[in-house]
Amino acid sequence: MNIILLGPPGSGKGTQAKNLSKKYSIPQISTGDMLRASFKANEPIGIKAKKIMDSGNLVSDDIIISLIKQRINKNDCKKGFLFDGFPRTIIQAQALDNQKIKIDYIIEIQIKDNEIINRMSGRRIHLASGRTYHIKYNPPKIDNIDDITGEKLIQREDDNKQVVQSRLNVYHKQTNPLIDYYKSLANNNNKIKYIEVNGLKDIKEVTNDIYSQLN
Ligand code: AP5
Ligand code: MG
Repeated sequence: MNIILLGPPGSGKGTQAKNLSKKYSIPQISTGDMLRASFKANEPIGIKAKKIMDSGNLVSDDIIISLIKQRINKNDCKKGFLFDGFPRTIIQAQALDNQKIKIDYIIEIQIKDNEIINRMSGRRIHLASGRTYHIKYNPPKIDNIDDITGEKLIQREDDNKQVVQSRLNVYHKQTNPLIDYYKSLANNNNKIKYIEVNGLKDIKEVTNDIYSQLN
């Protein structure tokens, strides 16, 4: 099963991806997490991407497409995968089509900008795994500590108000067109299903809404 999670920054893609990936035993492929890991490992791609990410802009399509091509050739993707934060431009979506990669489900998490800005200041992440928490809506068992590893949580550098606003602007300009792109693909092909969920509900309700439409 191949799934795309679509939605603005902070809509809950990473949060829902963790649940879905466990339930369906398919890997979560988050281009954002991959870039952050690459920076942490001091790799040239990560170092180049960091400045762009901190400004809220998108990393170049070439870099992202080549990361994805390598990733989906790995063994754990044989049964399917879950894209989280990819594709993000029409060019990236077309690259999937050109590679004849079939998508079964597109899940769009819908939420308004003002809700996102409120949410982001409370996000904490475990950098190594990409596990995501929220100080109010999804707190770790111990303050500022990852539930699984016991390591410290951090705040993402692109989670300040100004950068979140520019990520939202970039989303509306460059990623929003993918909504029509995939809706029209699903309308013309009954093997592809386009699912819409309300991302304002609490985390468990969003998960249940997704499950009920996947089954
Ligand atoms: P990326 O890491 O993908 O960030 P993003 O798309 O901006 O999305 P986020 O990770 O911020 O949000 P999310 O939807 O995963 O929400 P989360 O579950 O964490 O990308 C970062 C950067 O990398 C980009 O800006 C770009 O520069 C570059 N990049 C990445 N992919 C690229 C690509 N394909 N092309 C080009 N450049 C690329 O939830 C957010 C918070 O809300 C958490 O605290 C969570 O606990 C909480 N929460 C979640 N759901 C709920 C709920 N229902 N109710 C209350 N709180 C909730
Ligand atoms: Mg994310």
